[in-house]
Amino acid sequence: MKISRREFIRTSGVAAALGLGVPGLVRARSTVQGVRLDAAGSPLRIPPLFTGETLVAEVTEQEIWPGEMSEVWTLGGSWPAPTIRVRRGDTFSVQLINRLDEPTIVHWHGLIVPHVMDGHPTSVIAPNATFDYSFTVDQRAGAYWYHPHPHHRTGPQVYMGMAGLFIVEDDEEEALGLPSGDYEIPLVIQDRRTSDAHQFTYELAGASFEIGYLGDTLFVNGTLDPYLDAEAGLYRFRLLNGSNARILYVGFDDGRTFRLIGTDGGLLDRPYDMTGLSLAPAERADILVDFSNDPIGSTIVMKSIRTAGGGGYPPPQGAEMPILTINVAREATKTFTVPEKLATIEPLDPSASVRGRTFEMQSIHGASEDGHQINGLTYDMQRIDQQVYLGDLEIWTFWNRSAEPHPIHVHCLQFQVLERGGSTDLPPSDRGWKDTVLTLPYETVRVLVRFNRYPGVYLVHCHNLEHEDHGMMSNFEVLERTTGVEGYGDLLPGVLNLH
Ligand code: C2O
Ligand code: CU
Ligand code: CU
Repeated sequence: MKISRREFIRTSGVAAALGLGVPGLVRARSTVQGVRLDAAGSPLRIPPLFTGETLVAEVTEQEIWPGEMSEVWTLGGSWPAPTIRVRRGDTFSVQLINRLDEPTIVHWHGLIVPHVMDGHPTSVIAPNATFDYSFTVDQRAGAYWYHPHPHHRTGPQVYMGMAGLFIVEDDEEEALGLPSGDYEIPLVIQDRRTSDAHQFTYELAGASFEIGYLGDTLFVNGTLDPYLDAEAGLYRFRLLNGSNARILYVGFDDGRTFRLIGTDGGLLDRPYDMTGLSLAPAERADILVDFSNDPIGSTIVMKSIRTAGGGGYPPPQGAEMPILTINVAREATKTFTVPEKLATIEPLDPSASVRGRTFEMQSIHGASEDGHQINGLTYDMQRIDQQVYLGDLEIWTFWNRSAEPHPIHVHCLQFQVLERGGSTDLPPSDRGWKDTVLTLPYETVRVLVRFNRYPGVYLVHCHNLEHEDHGMMSNFEVLERTTGVEGYGDLLPGVLNLH
């Protein structure tokens, strides 16, 4: 059976709507709506650039609703966390200091780093402890990101504010002359539940164990109701869906075409024209949007387009939600053009694959603590479920055997999508190098993987953070082949112990 994206979102909207009878999930919204209707919005915040030598994890306050302070948990003092920018080849070093009341550890999503630097859940540090990170960044330019990864607590820590962009630059990308400076705008998009108390609270109950923790409002860079005063020119927006569970379908209120130029692992081969773009939790998209034909004074809204019916609270997957209002405020002072060619992407050759593996994702209906599984197992930090050899090309099959969508992420890797639902005719958002790929309910997605840098224990998991925290995660070990091919006999998925 093949379910199209639109059909799925409809199905999932219905599933979400069924969860609405759960007491405690419905909150009064009158005050919040009052604020949103009366106010003209707030200027889009841009996360600060990271400059220091430490990243402190702590409980702080931030002005989210005008004139009021709300509690947030931050890395480096702000929600979102400061944007880290490095050049390919640089060594990045930072000390994480944990001033929370609970363990934490930071993971560098999409970066290829040694196991000890990867923020594996076994690396958590206790309150008041520190962890020294230092690694060389040697991979394609792109927008990666960082967030905590303690087992069972990733969802709440990210939700409370701990996540930021990690941007890698290189000469190849710079030579393209893409919009930069004030014309390159990071958009960290995260849904949150707003309340009369103007505080974020994370309380899993009922359906949120099963569908994940959905919010009612999209915040961008921590800004409520954001607007951007733009010039009538070309802009580059670097989007991260940093939501715990909400899948976005990004477009504009006037249906305008924009150009997709990059996905998770950096630039695509060329720009692709699009009017709507699927962006699941943890996925990134690099887009160019042209406002040069928009009269001064016009207003355009970037939004998550409605793909499903149904309503209720919180709005189900597929509900329409505004992202960013763009006011075309003045003539362009700088002009940029869209390059015809962007980057060279060497396609991995499926016929060279030496092995296939299947990962079956299951969500037990009414899932609670351990209701999400991969190959019938819930996550155990100490158990290694698979072994992979460095340098081998493999085909991994992500088989979604549930009625929930699962965005699947692999650590220490950029992969290429081979097939979605049996078709190799992939949408642009599945092209290029990826580290996260959405699997729709009952859908199979196959990807080409080759680990080529570090041996060690890494993770494959669902990036719906409630699914991840409640079992849908698995350890695999990357091994060096030291003695030719004799090791093949050990490669059946087995259960080993780390200690
Ligand atoms: Cu973005 Cu293992 O995570
Ligand atoms: Cu990751
Ligand atoms: Cu999932």
